[in-house]
Amino acid sequence: MHLAMISCTPRNVKMSNTAKIIESFKTGFEKGGNTTEAHYLSQKNKWGNIRDAFNGNEHILFAIPLFFECVPGIMLEFLETLEPKEYPDGMAKTKIGFILQGGLAEASQLRCGEQYLERLPGYLNCQYSGTLIKGNMSMVSMLGDKSGEKLVAPFMDMGEYYAEHGAFSKERVSDFAKPEYFSKGFILLYKLLNPMQRLFISLLTKKRGRTDSLKAKPYQKYLV
Ligand SMILES: Cc1cc2nc3c(=O)[nH]c(=O)nc-3n(C[C@H](O)[C@H](O)[C@H](O)COP(=O)(O)O)c2cc1C
Repeated sequence: MHLAMISCTPRNVKMSNTAKIIESFKTGFEKGGNTTEAHYLSQKNKWGNIRDAFNGNEHILFAIPLFFECVPGIMLEFLETLEPKEYPDGMAKTKIGFILQGGLAEASQLRCGEQYLERLPGYLNCQYSGTLIKGNMSMVSMLGDKSGEKLVAPFMDMGEYYAEHGAFSKERVSDFAKPEYFSKGFILLYKLLNPMQRLFISLLTKKRGRTDSLKAKPYQKYLV
């Protein structure tokens, strides 16, 4: 099987967590002799080639970072340039699967995006082959090669799984995506450790140019 993978983040490939997830998934997918090609929507000058890849392949996987509980604008912009597929015998052959990953750990907050993706292939006259969801991914690029690779390593198994089954099953995805919600005990512990997390976020955002207080609400004045 040949799989065309399309990364849907606006971030450049070197800094992108999605790109690293794609690499890991690809390693597993190619184990049994399958092949892949990877495309990146951040490379806007290549959208013509990416459209050709969409039109010319029967197995497509969109890999997406969760942005504000849904898919990034750059992906919607690209989708607007696609036409629903046509088939000589009228039977929709192309299968589209998705990887949807986010920074926060609970799988529950990826479910809204998952529902949107379940409908999307139908609009393009394609079949849906499941959505793999996973949280806790925002540190992949920041952690450096070794630790980052550990975080994305489980995607290798899922690449193998997808190659074998041609789809992601709901049960397997729910298991992979755990935790769906944090337990009450974990939330309590989290609240106790919150000052340490605030310190970490404070240092990180200062390093990235924050000058206001962490509690600043710059848009408050626009709310009525
Ligand atoms: C503008 C923006 C919005 C985001 N919104 C969410 C969100 O709603 N939920 C979440 O879990 N992560 C969110 N994230 C985190 C990203 O989904 C996460 O860091 C992802 O791994 C980024 O992948 P990329 O590096 O390929 O863009 C957001 C990140 C950005 C930049």
